[in-house]
Amino acid sequence: MRTTVGIIGAGPAGLLLARLLHNAGIDSVVLESRDRAYVERRQRAGILEQGTADVLRAAGAGERMDREGLRHDGIELRFDRTRHRVDFPALTGGRSVMVYAQTEVCKDLIALQLREGGPLLFEAEALAVEDAGTDTPRIRFRHEGREDVLECSYVVGCDGFWGVARKAIPAGLTQVFERTYPFGWLGILADVPPSHDELVYARHERGFALLSMRSPAVSRLYLQVPDGTDPGAWGDDEIWDELERRFETADDWYLQRGPITQKTVTPMRSYVHEPMRHGRLFLAGDAAHIVPPTGAKGLNLAAGDVVTFARALVHQQETGSPELLDAYSRTCLRRVWQAERFSYDMTTLLHRAPGATAFEDRLQLARLERIASSRAAETDLAEAYTGFPFG
Ligand code: FAD
Ligand code: DHB
Repeated sequence: MRTTVGIIGAGPAGLLLARLLHNAGIDSVVLESRDRAYVERRQRAGILEQGTADVLRAAGAGERMDREGLRHDGIELRFDRTRHRVDFPALTGGRSVMVYAQTEVCKDLIALQLREGGPLLFEAEALAVEDAGTDTPRIRFRHEGREDVLECSYVVGCDGFWGVARKAIPAGLTQVFERTYPFGWLGILADVPPSHDELVYARHERGFALLSMRSPAVSRLYLQVPDGTDPGAWGDDEIWDELERRFETADDWYLQRGPITQKTVTPMRSYVHEPMRHGRLFLAGDAAHIVPPTGAKGLNLAAGDVVTFARALVHQQETGSPELLDAYSRTCLRRVWQAERFSYDMTTLLHRAPGATAFEDRLQLARLERIASSRAAETDLAEAYTGFPFG
């Protein structure tokens, strides 16, 4: 089999890239190791930056998002039993975010790809990327019990943190920057209307909590838990009791409970792999970088990478100049590091590390007070949350 761009992975990065290339008249093949149902059900991110929503729209994949997604003009920071709203449009010249789940983005892009785009093979596991440093890179993969080879002009590794693409870059040429955190998030889905019409990020001495949503009828909530926690160890009532404590306010706000339909624990990690390109192999999304989820940046960074790649390839095909492809890693990493910084700041602002001292507690509160009382500090948060420009 032969194609111009071989894409490994049908997460948001791989699927959006296939769509962007299709729209530009460039052929691609997507290889995905899992089956379609698994990819469409995997519960992950929920917030699209304005730039990501705009890209989906421009790609012809925004119709259901605009119908069913929820535009959010702010978030609430909750600490010391008080509430502070951050008003995005007022602080950023009109920017906002969209609550539309990653599962739905993937469903929309898969349907479009199968209807209009090039081949998208499920249960096709990439085994290795070969000859990345040459003009004829290849992906070795297994599909329907047989090994096969996809010959490409370019390979884009969109295969997430546990994928194989990154391994094709010689270790001697790479640098890895990493930090793990001694806590994770216990995430639940619950069949109950969200108790607030915007997201609530709560800092509490017992740990962080986040109230989010999937629709006007389905809540998504997260609790900071110790690293390695087994989600089954938490009973449903225990989860609601703990959420109630961490969201407690001095006013009459209250948390509405409902049946919990899903429980998972996500570890927290910061990770950057440099460079994001080797020869004709390009890494995009979680294959190249991970952020802790507190800033809601993971999916948005993935979108930014593939927009940058698609533009660079179109530029190369239109002008013959490889300058944008050559700048790919540098261009992406500028945005990646801004998101790493913001995600780290949000994580350390709102979580309670095991063994945190009273001094550190007071500093967290002082940082939150600063955001609540200074338009400059609040603007910094609003600009980062609604998104950095796509490079
Ligand atoms: P992925 O979505 O990981 O997609 C990679 C795809 O490649 C997968 O479909 C995988 O099956 C496939 N693949 C892997 N190896 C191979 C192979 N060898 N051959 C073929 N296919 C392969 N972000 C937020 O902003 N908020 C959140 O709440 C949040 N929660 C998360 C929870 C979890 C458990 C995880 C893992 C991530 C979460 N993220 C969250 C991050 C966000 O979901 C990711 O940043 C986003 O999915 C990145 O998209 P991607 O396409 O780069 O990678
Ligand atoms: C969601 C996840 C996040 O990491 C975040 O910061 C906000 C919302 C969510 O899953 O809805």
